[in-house]
Amino acid sequence: MAPVAALLALAFLAGAALAADPYAFFDWDVSYITASPLGVPQKVIAINKQFPGPVMNVTTNYNVVVNVLNSLDEPLLITWDGIQQRKNCWQDGVLGTNCPIPPGWNWTYNFQVKDQIGSFFYFPPLSMQRAAGGFGGITVNNRAVISVPFDTPDGDITLFIGDWYKKNHTDLRKMLDAGKELGMPDGVLMNGKGPYKYNDSLVPDGIEYETIKVEPGKTYRFRVHNVGVSTSLNFRIQNHNLAIVETEGSYTMKQNFTNLDIHVGQSYSFLVTMDQNASSDYYIVASPRFVNESVWARVTGVAILQYSNSKGKASGPLPDPPNDEYDKTFSMNQARSIRMDYGEWTENSRGTYNKWDGVSRCTTQVFPGAWTAVMLSLDSPGVWNVRTENLDTWYLGQETYIRVVDPAGGYNVTEMVAPDNMLYCGLLKDKQKAQKPHGSSSSSTFAAKLNGYLVAVLVLLALAFIQ
Ligand SMILES: *[C@@H]1O[C@H](CO)[C@@H](O)[C@H](O)[C@H]1NC(C)=O
Ligand SMILES: *[C@@H]1O[C@H](CO)[C@@H](O)[C@H](O)[C@H]1NC(C)=O
Ligand SMILES: *[C@@H]1O[C@H](CO)[C@@H](O)[C@H](O)[C@H]1NC(C)=O
Ligand SMILES: *[C@@H]1O[C@H](CO)[C@@H](O)[C@H](O)[C@H]1NC(C)=O
Ligand SMILES: *[C@@H]1O[C@H](CO)[C@@H](O)[C@H](O)[C@H]1NC(C)=O
Ligand SMILES: *[C@@H]1O[C@H](CO)[C@@H](O)[C@H](O)[C@H]1NC(C)=O
Ligand SMILES: *[C@@H]1O[C@H](CO)[C@@H](O)[C@H](O)[C@H]1NC(C)=O
Ligand SMILES: *[C@@H]1O[C@H](CO)[C@@H](O)[C@H](O)[C@H]1NC(C)=O
Repeated sequence: MAPVAALLALAFLAGAALAADPYAFFDWDVSYITASPLGVPQKVIAINKQFPGPVMNVTTNYNVVVNVLNSLDEPLLITWDGIQQRKNCWQDGVLGTNCPIPPGWNWTYNFQVKDQIGSFFYFPPLSMQRAAGGFGGITVNNRAVISVPFDTPDGDITLFIGDWYKKNHTDLRKMLDAGKELGMPDGVLMNGKGPYKYNDSLVPDGIEYETIKVEPGKTYRFRVHNVGVSTSLNFRIQNHNLAIVETEGSYTMKQNFTNLDIHVGQSYSFLVTMDQNASSDYYIVASPRFVNESVWARVTGVAILQYSNSKGKASGPLPDPPNDEYDKTFSMNQARSIRMDYGEWTENSRGTYNKWDGVSRCTTQVFPGAWTAVMLSLDSPGVWNVRTENLDTWYLGQETYIRVVDPAGGYNVTEMVAPDNMLYCGLLKDKQKAQKPHGSSSSSTFAAKLNGYLVAVLVLLALAFIQ
């Protein structure tokens, strides 16, 4: 089962905190809790016991300070996908520039959110951990003096959609290590919950589902993030239009869709007006794309949109997905209409790039047999990770690093200096001062675990210092 979209996430960072800008502080304890999203108890990764994690609601130019305590039994990093912490790769939270936080330790991230306003999410990038949770939303609000190209919505709703396995991330990792494919997921979760029982034979009893409560006549901003492993999902809300207004920090031309494909790692904002008669609740659906939908019927996320004047439960069939199972044109046209081509890439294709109104975003899809040109503005000196967002192929090594050098600058000129609390690992591990572990993990076990990660980290850190 070849995943359709290889997604490149270009994580770029910003920094240079201005003392005058406000601070937002967060204290996060990252630990396992037990949840049964698909009816089977399993350990999921929670932040402050919440799964999904809390929404980080900040305003542009804020300095964000996040103290992360690793209460898992394996090394942890948190990455702020798409948040451009320009000039500060030290806070990116990916291997290559950051050493992992050992189990039982805490580490404090300190970065400024700047130049990007909109919807993003954070997640743990190491070791397939995102397949077990640890993700949550980042909402970057505009400052009051900056106008936004649409009326202020009456409410803000964050929705995480994503494929899910009953096997935990350590077992998934073992399968990949053994050269196996992960196979069909066991379901699609919405906000960490399983499907509403829309069909007795497909959904077992006793599954907790998500209900979104709304007022008739009001308009809500839905921020939808595909946080899954590798499944592209078609998102739709029964009888309601989705007016796309933003994707990962870029405002888009306002357009109505009845459904939209959201690939792994992507985030979209829709305005949805509650303009229906509430004769019943409505289905919110995330169904797999580019697969045999009759075989994958079980792998469908279903939540409920409930008006305060609703006259009854949702029933009957789900709203139809686009009728193009193996025809990529529809999805591609959607992606192109949002501003992105098909066929073989040639030098001549350069002339057709959408240079003028291409949307600046940090995650883009590449359809099989097609190409997407990504224009990177290399204005952030440092070392940056470019990778596939599909977790399985990322885990298997589909990533690379770009070292951006500013000839007029250099370390501690245009490039941020390493933070005082920087963690050392691998060849530099002797520079690391011990931290008194919060839990009982002994230093020898995590040192052993860390060593597996480190060659790339070291080479890059060394480069950074030579520069
Ligand atoms: C997020 O922050 C904005 C700006 O401070 C505030 O208006 C809004 O109510 C907050 N949203 C939530 C859900 O807390
Ligand atoms: C760990 O947390 C403590 C208490 O909150 C804090 O004083 C310390 O600076 C943190 N350590 C790091 C490396 O972030
Ligand atoms: C994952 O499941 C296996 C059993 O299949 C178990 O041995 C292991 O401890 C679990 N790991 C976590 C982190 O839950
Ligand atoms: C439930 O799903 C099964 C399998 O896809 C299908 O055959 C059946 O018609 C569905 N039932 C209803 C009531 O839609
Ligand atoms: C989009 O749909 C809404 C109702 O859901 C409607 O009010 C609006 O006019 C539509 N916009 C466009 C551009 O069609
Ligand atoms: C409510 O709307 C639905 C779909 O638009 C329509 O089929 C139904 O007849 C309406 N019901 C009432 C009571 O107006
Ligand atoms: C989807 O799978 C079903 C069951 O295996 C099969 O009968 C059907 O032909 C498949 N559809 C397509 C389009 O391959
Ligand atoms: C960075 O440069 C400033 C000003 O030149 C200097 O005071 C500071 O010590 C330097 N920091 C590092 C870590 O090199």
